[in-house]
Order: sequence, then C-alpha cells, then structure tokens
Amino acid sequence: MSTYRIEGGAPLKGRIRASGAKNAATKQIVASLLADEEVVLHNVPQIGDVAITIDIVQSLGAQVEWTGDSTLRLHAASVKSGEVPVAFSGLNRIPVLLIGPLLHRYGTASVPLLGGDEIGARPLDYHVGALQQLGATITVEADCWRARADRLKGTLIDLPYPSVGATESALLSSVLADGTTVIRNAAVEPEIVDTILLLQKMGALIAVDVDRTIVVEGVSKLRGAEHTLLPDRIEVASFAAAAVATDGDVFIEGAEQDQITTFLNALRRVGGEFEVRPDGIRFFRGRPGGELHSIALETDVHPGFATDWQQPFVVLLTQASGLSVIHETVFEQRFGYTTVLRDMGATIELYKTCLGAKPCRYRYADQPHSCLVQGPTPLYGTSMQIPDLRAGFAYVIAALVGKGTSTIDGAQYVERGYAHIPDKIEQLGGRCLVV
Ligand code: EPU
Repeated sequence: MSTYRIEGGAPLKGRIRASGAKNAATKQIVASLLADEEVVLHNVPQIGDVAITIDIVQSLGAQVEWTGDSTLRLHAASVKSGEVPVAFSGLNRIPVLLIGPLLHRYGTASVPLLGGDEIGARPLDYHVGALQQLGATITVEADCWRARADRLKGTLIDLPYPSVGATESALLSSVLADGTTVIRNAAVEPEIVDTILLLQKMGALIAVDVDRTIVVEGVSKLRGAEHTLLPDRIEVASFAAAAVATDGDVFIEGAEQDQITTFLNALRRVGGEFEVRPDGIRFFRGRPGGELHSIALETDVHPGFATDWQQPFVVLLTQASGLSVIHETVFEQRFGYTTVLRDMGATIELYKTCLGAKPCRYRYADQPHSCLVQGPTPLYGTSMQIPDLRAGFAYVIAALVGKGTSTIDGAQYVERGYAHIPDKIEQLGGRCLVV
C-alpha cells in the first residue's frame, strides 16, 4: 500500500511528457503472442497494468525485456503453455483477450476470471459470443474460462454495443482465422486503431469502414514488427483538467489533437483554452483567474466524450459557475468517487434517471448514472482511499485544487494506469510526496 501526501492550492505550471497509452500497451503485448518473431514496442508506459500483463505473458513462456525506459522487446516463440495461471485472477481486464491468440497456438486455452475496476457489472457476454461465433467452445469453471477450437473460422460478428474489449477479442481472434471476419458495430477508439496499425505491420489484413465495420481477412502467419504507441489521451485529458482547474498553464509534450477533439471542445466551452503546437498541446484558462462555466455533457464511445475523461472533468466542474449536468452512458456505476468530492466541499447530486438525450442502456436500471454539479465551491484537503484507477486520479486533481493537505491511500490503484505521478506533479510545481 502506498500513500500520496498532496499539498493543494497552487496552480500547476510547466511541462510534462505524455506517456504511451495504457489501453493500447496491454493489448499490444497480447498481440505479440500472435507471431513467433520479435515484436518491439516503443513508448510503453511504466505502469502497473503493463507490469501485470508482462507477468502474464512471461508465465506462458514469452521472453520480455525492457530496453531503456519505454521500449519493450517481446518474443513469443518460446511460449509453451495455453494456460494462464489462476494467480492472475482479478488483477486486470487482459486475460480474456489471450483466448484467441492462445487458441491459434494450442487449440485450447484457459484464462482466469477477470478483474479490473469495479465500475459496474462488466460482463463478458460479447467476448464469449464473438469467440463462439468464430468456432470456439467456451466453458466457465470455478476460477477460469476454458476454450477449445481446432481452427477459428471467419464469420459475421454483430456486436450489441461497440465494446472496446469485445472488439479487441474479435480482432485478436480473427487475424489468423480461416476466411474473412466482419465485425459490425465495432469500437473504433484510437487505442484500437493503434493496435490495428501494429497488426497490419505484423502482416494482418484489416480494413476499418466508416460505419464502425471492421473487416479482417485471415492470414496464415504473422511476423515480427516494430511499433511506437500513441500517447495516452486519458492521461493528457487528466493533466489538462488539472491545469485548468488549478488555474495553471501546462504544456504536454506528445499530446495529439485528433485523439481528444471532443475533450478540447468541452474544455473550451467551460472556459479552458489550449494551444496546439507541433510537439504537443498547452492547456490554460481563457483568461488567467477567469471564471469557468457550467456545461451539459454525456459520455459515449469514441468519438464521443470518453467515460475515462468524466472523472477529471467533474473535478474541473466543481470550479465552474452554475449547474453542470453529466450523463454517464458507458458504465453503470462510475460516480462512486463523487462521495469524496462532496466530503471535500463539492455540491454534487446523483440521479438514476437519464439527464441527457443519448440512448442509454441504464435508462431503467437502478443505478445512479447522472450527476449534477453546482459550482464553484472551494475544496478542502482530506484523507481518502482510492477505489479505482480513474477515481484515483480525480482525487489527485481534487487534492491539487483543494486548500490544505490531502492524504490519498491506495496509490497503487492509480499507478496501474498513470506513470510517474509524483514526479510529473513536482515537475509542474505541485507537491506530491509518497509517504
Ligand atoms: N459490455 C458488456 N458485455 C461485454 C463487454 C462489455 O455488456 O462482453 C459492456 C460493459 O459492461 C460496459 C460497456 O459494454 O458497460 C463498454 O465496455 P467496454 O468493453 O467498451 O470496456 P472495456 O473493454 O472493459 C475499456 C477500457 C476502459 C474504458 C472502456 C471504455 C481497457 C483495459 N479498459 O474497457 O478503461 O473505460 O474501454 O472506453 O482497455 C480505464 O482505463 O480505467 C478503463 C476502465
């Protein structure tokens, strides 16, 4: 267990570098199992989820080596087992993605039941459905999923919802399948497109159509490749929200505009500003010390407002004048962290009704998935316990905005997804000690 002690109240000012995207890194480590040659990944973030995923592929026999701070060399020819040890149960969302690649190698696979943040039910029915349609037999046992398939065969997969994980399951299972697989209603998040770029370098034939259809023509073999991961758009948005919330001025080297256009629009609407430069993006308020304004927004799949931007943005909205409305449509329980914000002085109410116009799967569910924030309210430092990754970084921002000292327990949860947090905050003139 590690704890951060944060002194709040000072504007964040300076320059940091964006890390590589967590939600592409872990998937691309899995993709390396599809080839017998070396896959070299650059710009890999040093975070907990990457460490867990490396441990998983090493437990199967893959050779993995860090060269330098952010380059990972992966060699899967030495993989000897299709059984992921149950010890990896409950740690992250990656094991289910291994089923396809392991079936191609062994015809059987067993992976532990999943973990990851508790932000709703997070079922796996779309993953299982996709694998079954490709010809796999899947059974659930007490502590693992067991899969079997002599050959996976191309098929039509119509996803009920553009799930990121299920799209990746379908992709990683179909690139080496016999024939063509059509994935309709696929997720097209930038991290998925980046993984498609790696797979294409490895020899895969994948086309992304304009209407969320991904067409995969199976090939018989994939080869090694070298790839540089895209920057982490969630980390970028998190520090951008922190910069504007603290009335600071932060340049994020490596940030890319096209991955965060929806976030940038929302930021500008509330009174934040940004300057896109060739090597990154600078974030600040439209006028130093200027007022921020309320907004109504709804989370959605890409290119909508990402659910992982919601938590840092809500902290920002506690500093905006007026009533903001946020409708979470991706996960059913993603406002748990607001209790702590209320303890710190925020005025926030949760609602089970849909406070928005987008079609939402939680319309009749008994879960608070809409939120009203009345601002601006000063926040005051307090002691808090991190429940999950994105909530954790929301606490970090709230502590930086708040007056006085905050102690944040469970820093390992936030370090699953954000690299070098105390260092980056110190680089921006903030105080974040690991105690
Ligand atoms: N869903 C199902 N059945 C399935 C799969 C998904 O009902 O078989 C539902 C989920 O319960 C959820 C919705 O579909 O309500 C979307 O889930 P999705 O599959 O898209 O999410 P995920 O793959 O589990 C990834 C990221 C999340 C990110 C979401 C949405 C990883 C490891 N995780 O999760 O990131 O919020 O996509 O963009 O890539 C994070 O980084 O902190 C994080 C939670």
